[in-house]
Amino acid sequence: MSLKHLISALPKAELHLHIEGSLSPQLMWELAQKHHISLPYHSVEEIEKAYNFSDLQSFLDLYYAGADVLRNEDDFYQLMMAYLQRCHQENVVHTEIMFDPQTHTDRGVPFSTFMKGFLKAVQVAKGEYGISVKLIMSFLRHLSEAQALQTLRDAEAWYDVIDAVGLDSSELGHPPEKFERVFAEARTLGFKVVAHAGEEGPPDYIWQAINLLSVDRIDHGVRCQEDEELMELIKQRQIPLTVCPLSNLKLCVIDDMSQHNILKLLDAGLLVTVNSDDPTYFGGFLNENFEALDVALGMTEAQCRQLAKNSFTASFLSEEEKQKWIEKVDAVSV
Ligand code: ADE
Ligand code: ZN
Repeated sequence: MSLKHLISALPKAELHLHIEGSLSPQLMWELAQKHHISLPYHSVEEIEKAYNFSDLQSFLDLYYAGADVLRNEDDFYQLMMAYLQRCHQENVVHTEIMFDPQTHTDRGVPFSTFMKGFLKAVQVAKGEYGISVKLIMSFLRHLSEAQALQTLRDAEAWYDVIDAVGLDSSELGHPPEKFERVFAEARTLGFKVVAHAGEEGPPDYIWQAINLLSVDRIDHGVRCQEDEELMELIKQRQIPLTVCPLSNLKLCVIDDMSQHNILKLLDAGLLVTVNSDDPTYFGGFLNENFEALDVALGMTEAQCRQLAKNSFTASFLSEEEKQKWIEKVDAVSV
């Protein structure tokens, strides 16, 4: 079996996916027409061509503008359903999905509109595909601590369907320490916690996410390699890093995929995982991220299997479920 076949045959979990970043140019176009929204593009192809980014902020500007076509419950249903269908095609059997409430509530879209749309799709996909799904409510770090706290409180009616809270958006200038009290409250409420850190931001932001926010996982974290002591801590505690290769390339965190450090981190014993982040903006869903490691870094079969196992180990599934899927990874024969 070629590595490409192995990648698609392996059961996998995805742990770093922004649902708003899975909006396809086609769906964006259709929803803009449906709601009579004028886009700064004249065709689906023009939308696709606009996806060239110089850094995180240049992407976020388009991503927030694109999300404006999401207006009613059915739009959010379609968005979630399209992603979960893709998961099914790619043998992604478990996914932990981030959503950004503030991207929608700040435009006047109520919490109930997106939550009902998301949950309906999750229910259908669970029934049709048997996929399991957890939801991560993420705070936009370019907004204030008070706005994040308000969002946490506005979500109260949905606490039982939300598994974790996260921290995303513009990293530089918005360190984790800004949200220490929000995360303390979220942990008191029983949520798992994750945070983007060390994507564009320095290793100090990863230290803060660990020491001040007490994160269960770091999203990205690739800049940990600049700090030996930090790498050792992440390794010793087996704090998962949800790494996103195509995202790092598209946002110029690296110049070329051959420079990516994910396999070095894996071989050094860190609990790294492969994820797609914002697949429709960065040119690939989960399997394409794995394939990029094969093509550019010569990933071995053993590394590929280990990354698939890590995706379950690093998840918020129960120990029994993790073990079940890890055994299934081992059972896929070449
Ligand atoms: N929001 C969506 N994708 C993101 C990323 N890669 N980093 C920070 N915030 C994001
Ligand atoms: Zn992300």
